[in-house]
Order: sequence, then structure tokens, then C-alpha cells
Amino acid sequence: MFILVENVSFTYLANTPFAVQALQGVSLTISRGESVAILGRTGCGKSTLVQHLNGLLVPQEGRVVVDGVDTRVRGAALKEIRQKVGLVFQYPEDQMFEETVFREVAFAPRNMGVEGEELEARVRWAMEAVGLNYEALKDKSPFELSGGQMRRVAIASILSMKPEVLVLDEPTAGLDPQGRTALLERLQDLRRQWGLTVVLVSHNVEDVARIAERVVVLERGRVAFDGPVREFFAYEHRMRQYGIIPSPLLRAAFLLRARGFEVDPPLTPLELYREIEEKVLVRRKPCSVEV
Ligand SMILES: Nc1ncnc2c1ncn2[C@@H]1O[C@H](COP(=O)(O)OP(=O)(O)OP(=O)(O)O)[C@@H](O)[C@H]1O
Ligand SMILES: [Mg+2]
Repeated sequence: MFILVENVSFTYLANTPFAVQALQGVSLTISRGESVAILGRTGCGKSTLVQHLNGLLVPQEGRVVVDGVDTRVRGAALKEIRQKVGLVFQYPEDQMFEETVFREVAFAPRNMGVEGEELEARVRWAMEAVGLNYEALKDKSPFELSGGQMRRVAIASILSMKPEVLVLDEPTAGLDPQGRTALLERLQDLRRQWGLTVVLVSHNVEDVARIAERVVVLERGRVAFDGPVREFFAYEHRMRQYGIIPSPLLRAAFLLRARGFEVDPPLTPLELYREIEEKVLVRRKPCSVEV
């Protein structure tokens, strides 16, 4: 396994009247090549958890181990962990500061000592990996770009470190449907082509269905569910209990199930169509479905 989170607890402003316990005894493991979605209500601890994965936060109890190294280390070993596990923050464009897209994407590898042609090749690769045209955009200010492009620059600026794990905190928040689809497709390509491990924090069930194989749900700082995405999507009441709204696609499947058709929860519209063809139409019964 690549990342081990063992019995981790974390409290903000500990030992003050304002203390907030954000994580309580959280344990999970992430293997190379996996694609994991972290879900849960607002304030349940998702961002706090993902900031533990690259040593940005260290546990007050328990431990986090990345590729065999405890994140409490300092110096070069900590830098190595940060390079292996690239973290893209919630609304990352708020933290951009360089004058050009090139400099923004080059910032982290430059700090790692990459320079000259290798640096240029690295920046080109990272930009193209997220679908940004290198020649057309490299000299632009990041602030001249659209929201979707800016978000992709932010992801490229982490990818340029060549991380093994990409952790994205709400990567599609605030994007229009086109920007969202483009970004998710690029992430899928990165998984397929480079075997990148992806950890995705999301509120959006459709994004989760497109990207994740496994779902971890947090509730008030604890792990409430950890299992395959299809297993999570199988029970509407459980999703709602955790504050997660089923997508229209899943709702359609749940409505059919409520009427006695044993359709499996679909991840794509095509899957729902096939389920309907196999399990509903085959019975040749007229069914009235209210959506
Ligand atoms: N810097 C901070 N100082 C104090 N409390 C904090 C801080 N950051 C987060 N918290 C609190 O810790 C808890 C967990 O917050 P966290 O940001 O991890 O939740 P989240 O699941 O990412 O929420 P969201 O879905 O809104 O992004 C919340 O109660 C939050 O108010
Ligand atoms: Mg958050």
C-alpha cells in the first residue's frame, strides 16, 4: 500500500476554548493506481484529511505513512513526500501569484532544482496533460484565463512536480458544465496513461461516478463508509443519511427499484439504458415512472 492513515485525530485550536475536533480516529489505506473519492457533509473533515496525506498537517494522534515514510519527518524526506503526493487545494486559483502561466507551472519544479530545457519540457508536459495549449497560453497572465483554464493551470502547477498521487479538493467546484467535463476527462486520461493515483474530494455524485472506484465517506470527522463506488450507490437511504444527494441518473434507478425492477445502480447513462433494456423492457409491463 502507498498511503497509510492510521487512527488519526486532529483538533484545530487545540487546548483553547475554540477547539474543533476535525478528525477522530480515522484509518484508511490508499494503494498505487487507485482512484478514491472522499465525500461527506460540509465541515465533516475532508479538507483536513487530505492535507494530512502530504504532510501539510500532521496528526496529533495516530500516524500517516507515505511510501514507508512517516509524515512527521522534516527536511528532505518531507519535501519528497510533498513531491510524491501533489495536493491541489479547494479554489487553488486564489493562491496563484506568478505573472505568467509558464512561471506558475514552473514554480514547484524550479524549487526542486529542475531548470533549462528540462524545465521547459516539464511545463509543456504538465500543461498539455490538462489540455492547455502550451504555445498559446504560456506567456499569458493566469488571471486573463477563464475559470476552467485557471483551474487547469493550478492542477498543471502540481502535476509539474510529477507526483505519484494527485489529491484534488473539490476540483470542479464553481466550473461550468463544459469546464467540468473537460477537467474530468483529463483526469481520466492521466489515470489511464500514467497510472496516476487520484484522491478526489467532492460533493458531486456525478463526478464521483465518472472518476472514482472507491468511496470514503466522513461524518463528523470519522469514517462512516469505505467501499466500492457501486456498493455506495446501491442504497439511496444510506446516501441521503450521509447528506449526499443522488444524481438524476441514480434517482431514476432508485425509482425503478422502488417499483420492483432490480436494476443495478448505473455509473453512466448508457449503463442505465442497458439495465432498463434488460430488466424493465424485457418484462413488457407498462410502468409509470415519476421522475
Ligand atoms: N483553520 C481552521 N481553524 C479552525 N477550525 C477549522 C479550520 N479549518 C477547518 N476547521 C473546522 O474543522 C472542521 C472540518 O473542516 P474541513 O475544512 O476539514 O471540512 P470539509 O469537509 O473540508 O468542509 P467543506 O465541505 O465545507 O470544504 C469544521 O468544523 C471546520 O469548521
Ligand atoms: Mg473542504
